[in-house]
Amino acid sequence: MKKPHNITLLGTGLIGRFYTMTLHSQRSKDHVHTVCGIPEESAKAFAKEFDIPNWTTDMEKAINNPETDLVIIGIPNDLHEKAVHLAARAGKAVLCTKPLGRSAKEAKSMLDAVEKAGVFAGYLEDLCYTPKTLKSLKSIQNGSVGQVLWARSRETHPGPHSAWFWDLKKAGGGAIVDLGCHCIEIIRNFIGKDIRPVEVLCTSDTLVHPIEAEDSGIGLIRFANRAIGQFEVSWTFRGGMDLRDEVAGTEGTIWLNHFLRTGFEMFTAAGQGGYVAEKSETEAGWLFPVGDEVVELGYVDMFTDMFESLEKGKKPMETFYDGYVVNAIIDACYKSAKTKKWEPVDLFEWRGKKEVEEISGLKPYDKEHFLIKKERMPEGKVKIILKNIKTGEISQKIE
Ligand SMILES: NC(=O)c1ccc[n+]([C@@H]2O[C@H](COP(=O)([O-])OP(=O)(O)OC[C@H]3O[C@@H](n4cnc5c(N)ncnc54)[C@H](O)[C@@H]3O)[C@@H](O)[C@H]2O)c1
Repeated sequence: MKKPHNITLLGTGLIGRFYTMTLHSQRSKDHVHTVCGIPEESAKAFAKEFDIPNWTTDMEKAINNPETDLVIIGIPNDLHEKAVHLAARAGKAVLCTKPLGRSAKEAKSMLDAVEKAGVFAGYLEDLCYTPKTLKSLKSIQNGSVGQVLWARSRETHPGPHSAWFWDLKKAGGGAIVDLGCHCIEIIRNFIGKDIRPVEVLCTSDTLVHPIEAEDSGIGLIRFANRAIGQFEVSWTFRGGMDLRDEVAGTEGTIWLNHFLRTGFEMFTAAGQGGYVAEKSETEAGWLFPVGDEVVELGYVDMFTDMFESLEKGKKPMETFYDGYVVNAIIDACYKSAKTKKWEPVDLFEWRGKKEVEEISGLKPYDKEHFLIKKERMPEGKVKIILKNIKTGEISQKIE
């Protein structure tokens, strides 16, 4: 059996808590050994609550603890780059939360640092690891939906829980960088991460909050095989956290609802008496609790993949390069929202397929015709719509 890992966790906020709840859950052998957070009381209280032997407010000290072999980054976006460089310099494996950087430039500097240092690095994109997503991906890879034509991902909620998210400089953007990063990577997984994202069209606005960053955004991503990704993000949605994905293929469709409709719905007039689920807006009336949040949001499968990959010396499903590609797509989205035009996705290097087959739905019906559509009509007959291959004439017949 492999030795348990001694983990340094940076961050004692929302994500630090979810990560620690996951790592310390069930009979897990890998524990947080050193935690770093500010202010001091928060680090101290967190260490006490989760039985963590060491706590500090000094990031460098936490990373360089000689007993630490793995650093997990769960601090605000503007501190990711510094933390990754410190971990790489210390020769420690490093896992970083989303978004990897505030821009592709920052993400590339992090990618370069871990690759140059030769340390293991993983991108903690939990929503690509939800049990429903993993099962869908497997079935898509087995051909269940045919060729994926369109993948749509939506994340909306009433806005983030800490001041730094709302500060354009610290966060690197608004809802697009915060929530769009999840949606974009979900879309890439469904369409195929080896298929190059080519260009984007995006619109964004600041509808209801007094902030410089956008609180709403919608984007389209065109891939090299002509598949389309569509994301919808907002910090203005009322009613909790809406996490939904859709995949449309030549042979099938998948609809996923991860949060407000998980099959657990309850009404309480008395009130639930505390926390219901992340970003839930009410504790009474109709509620949509989530059975085990760390499982349903993908944290358990994500850390399992990260630790197994680290131990087997292989790449995890979500890498720093993926984080970099996501940032490059986001950069192009911000550009497009300004220019109101399709903008290219600028990548310093493409590590996926160089040549891809374009999507084609052409189905021969007979020697002269392509089949366009076949449908049973209300009277029971089957109507066939055809295109003549030579002349292009479109006709129909009843079978
Ligand atoms: N689903 C997800 O993957 C997910 C969800 C939420 C947040 N995040 C990401 O996690 C990161 C943190 O977000 P959060 O929601 O936990 O924020 P938060 O505000 O709840 O917590 C941030 C924590 O960072 C720590 N911190 C801040 N400045 C520090 C410093 N100089 N040195 C050491 N520690 C410092 C503090 O302990 C603070 O509690 C962000 O990058 C965010 O995008 C990811």
